[in-house]
Amino acid sequence: MSELQKDKKPILLSGIQPSGHLALGNYVGAMRNWVNLQQDYLGIFIVVDMHAITVRQKPADLRNRCLSFAAQYLAAGIDPDENIIFIQSHVPQHAELSWVLNCYTYMGELNRMTQFKDKSQRHGDNINAGLYTYPALMAADILLYQTDLVPVGADQKQHLELTRDIANRFNNTYSPTFKVPEPFIPKAGARIMSLQEPDKKMSKSDTNENNYISLLDPPDVLRRKIKRAVTDSAREITPESLHHSGIGNLLTIFSVLNDMSLEAVANQFEGQQYSVLKGELADSLVAFLEPFQQRYSKIIGEKGYLTDILDQGAGQARYLATKTLSKVYRKIGFVPAGRS
Ligand code: TYM
Repeated sequence: MSELQKDKKPILLSGIQPSGHLALGNYVGAMRNWVNLQQDYLGIFIVVDMHAITVRQKPADLRNRCLSFAAQYLAAGIDPDENIIFIQSHVPQHAELSWVLNCYTYMGELNRMTQFKDKSQRHGDNINAGLYTYPALMAADILLYQTDLVPVGADQKQHLELTRDIANRFNNTYSPTFKVPEPFIPKAGARIMSLQEPDKKMSKSDTNENNYISLLDPPDVLRRKIKRAVTDSAREITPESLHHSGIGNLLTIFSVLNDMSLEAVANQFEGQQYSVLKGELADSLVAFLEPFQQRYSKIIGEKGYLTDILDQGAGQARYLATKTLSKVYRKIGFVPAGRS
């Protein structure tokens, strides 16, 4: 930890819920930027299992997925020696700060959260209080570490704005306590769309697996899913294609995977059949995911290595989180433990 503290780099923090299958949308919208930005920041990357239980999870699956997602963070290129990677439930300060922040979050604010509205429609039989107050837990995740930058996809923008409002409210009520974080939402790929229903976002917990690319899909499955991706009745790519949901989505994915601008991709494929783009996109995906999957297999096969990283990460996180939480408890008037 002393090494990390000495660095005094700004803090980059983000997390993914271990639900469903880590998908290309998560990589393009979030993880890719974690990897690209890690050089200049101390990265804190969390597998947010406490968020995942706002929707029913099978216990054995949840356990496996937490390890699998952490291994995928590493396979994507997060350096565990320079960053902190951990499982949220290993750091109890998240739940503790979340309770405090619940008391500084208004129901009117939570009522406006579109993710709550979406999820309560999809899980009508389980609209629990956790699903509703979830943004206060996300704010706790971020504010505990005096975070500077939060790289996420566009769907998390509203939660980030609320986090900033909560931080400002607390700081103004007492005195500066929390750093007010900035979102980092990429220009390209902030909202990757579903392959079969391109008017809705690609979701890792979609019940139709043809809607998303899992980072662990084998090459034949990747090729099949791209081939079947829904486009439209036009056949050739034109500059206008960028504005059409299905084909525009495929062009966006191609541009991100190949580090090209959208315009350059549209130029490259102008006048070509959709099938040509699909073929080249499938090749790019396979070329990107094959080495990723090889690294993943190696890491997931070394359970001891992975759990050591997660244990160490949780220890470092608890150390940092305790500092902020003690400050918060003091400011709101809680009697310091051990002195009463
Ligand atoms: P989650 O688990 O739904 O998604 C993880 C990350 O992936 C991004 N993402 C996408 N980006 C582009 N296109 C898509 N189709 C797509 N789908 C998902 C999300 O924006 C997110 O960045 N509440 C968060 C998890 C969280 C968190 C945090 C994030 C909890 N605490 C603290 C940042 C900081 C969530 O549900 O993400």
